[in-house]
Amino acid sequence: MGGVGGLGRGRRGAYLPLLLLPPLLLLAVAGAAVGKEKEKGAFGKLRFRRESGTFKVVQVADMHYADGRSTACEDVLRSQVAGCTDLNTTAFLYRVFRAEDPDLVVFTGDNIYGADSNDAAKSMDAAIAPAIDMKLPWAAVIGNHDQEGTLSREGVMRHLVGMKNSLSSFNPEGIEIDGYGNYNLEVSGVEGTPMDEKSVLNLYFLDSGDYSTVLSINGYGWIKASQQVWFQQTSSSLQAKYMNENPKQKEPAPGLVFFHIPLPEFSSFTAANFTGVKQEGISSASINSGFFASMVEAGDVRAAFVGHDHINDFCGKLSGIQLCYAGGFGYHAYGKAGWSRRARVVSVQLEKTDNGEWRGVKSIKTWKRLDDKHLSTIDSEVLWNRGSNGMVLRKGSHTATVEYETMGAFGECWMANLL
Ligand SMILES: *[C@@H]1O[C@H](CO)[C@@H](O)[C@H](O)[C@H]1NC(C)=O
Ligand SMILES: *[C@@H]1O[C@H](CO)[C@@H](O)[C@H](O)[C@H]1NC(C)=O
Repeated sequence: MGGVGGLGRGRRGAYLPLLLLPPLLLLAVAGAAVGKEKEKGAFGKLRFRRESGTFKVVQVADMHYADGRSTACEDVLRSQVAGCTDLNTTAFLYRVFRAEDPDLVVFTGDNIYGADSNDAAKSMDAAIAPAIDMKLPWAAVIGNHDQEGTLSREGVMRHLVGMKNSLSSFNPEGIEIDGYGNYNLEVSGVEGTPMDEKSVLNLYFLDSGDYSTVLSINGYGWIKASQQVWFQQTSSSLQAKYMNENPKQKEPAPGLVFFHIPLPEFSSFTAANFTGVKQEGISSASINSGFFASMVEAGDVRAAFVGHDHINDFCGKLSGIQLCYAGGFGYHAYGKAGWSRRARVVSVQLEKTDNGEWRGVKSIKTWKRLDDKHLSTIDSEVLWNRGSNGMVLRKGSHTATVEYETMGAFGECWMANLL
C-alpha cells in the first residue's frame, strides 16, 4: 500500500492519492487490504517519518470515560469542581495531540469506566473521538473497568477493533489464547530506504486481564501462559526476519510493550532509581505469572508501558527493560487534587548513516505532558540507546561497560567515557 500507508507528515493527505486513482485500480488497492489486515483500513502501515526519522507515540492511560458532560470529575481542587466533566478529558486529548502530533496513540485500558456508563459503546466512541477526529492512527488494550458496563470484555474489545482508524486487533488467529486484544504492530523504516520493508520497531499489546479467576487468589488479573507463548513466538519470528532477511541486521529491532496492569516487578524501584513519582502502591496481581522474565528472555523488549495506578508516573529500569507508568489521564478517575492529569510521550529516533540515509532505531526517549496551563513537559529521559544496554566493549586486555549520561532538557545523550 506504499504511499497510502505512509504516515507521518503525509498522513493527513493519505486519502487524496486514493481519490485520484481510477475506480478499478482503487478496487484493487482496497482488495489488497482485505483479509488479515481488513480491520486496519487505510492506516494499515505505520512508518517512521522521512524528515525527522522519528516515530512518536502518545500513551493515554485510564481515561475512565463515562457519559460525557453529565459525568463529574474526581479528585480535583475544590475550585475546579464546578463545570468539570468527562469533556475535560476530551479537551486534554485535543491539547496533547495538537502539541505532540503523534504517529500513533495508544490507549492502555480503563478507557471507559463501565460502571458509570449508560452505554459502553457510546462511551468508548466518545472517549476515543478526538483521535479519530484528528485522523490519528490509534490502538487500544482493555483494563479492568472497561467491561463493567453494557459490554463484556470480549464485546468491548470487538468494539475497539471495529472503530474508525483503529489499529487494534482482537487476538491472533488460529491459536487458543487468554484474554481479548493480544496483538502486535510493526513500524517500518523510512520509505525509499533499505529499511522500508522492515519492521524497525515492534509494538506488542496484551490484555492483562481484570481480576483473578482463581478462587484462592485475590486481586487483579495477570498475563497468562498462553499469551506469553504467543508473545515469545511473535518476538522470535520478528527477530529472525529482521536479522536474517536482507539487509541483515546485527541486533533485534527494539520492542515496546503495552498493557494495563503493572507487573510485580514495578515494585523493584525506589526514588533512587526511577524518574517520576510513586504516590501509591503497585497494584499488580498478587502472584507473578512470569511475563517480565518472558520479556527479558525475548531479548528485544526495551520498555513496557502500563497504567492502572493513576498517581504513579515513573519509569525505572530493571534487567535492561524500562518499566513505565503513564500516570492517569482522565478526570472521572481517581487522582490527586492539584496534581495534573498527564500523558506519556514516547519518541523513537532512527540512526542516520554518513550518507544521510535513515536506518534502524538509535534511541528511545520519553517525557510526560501535563494538563496544566502551559501543557508542561516534564521528566524527559532517554529510555534506551543503541549499544547502551549493558553492552560490553573489549579493548586490549581490559573490559569496560559503556556508560551513558543523560543531559539536557530533552535528554540528549552523551557518552561519558568510551575508553
Ligand atoms: C474543565 O473545562 C472547563 C471548560 O472548558 C474549564 O473551565 C475548567 O477549567 C476545566 N477544569 C479543569 C480541572 O481543567
Ligand atoms: C533501587 O534502589 C534500591 C535502594 O535504594 C535498591 O534496593 C533496589 O534494588 C534498586 N532497584 C533497582 C532495580 O536497581
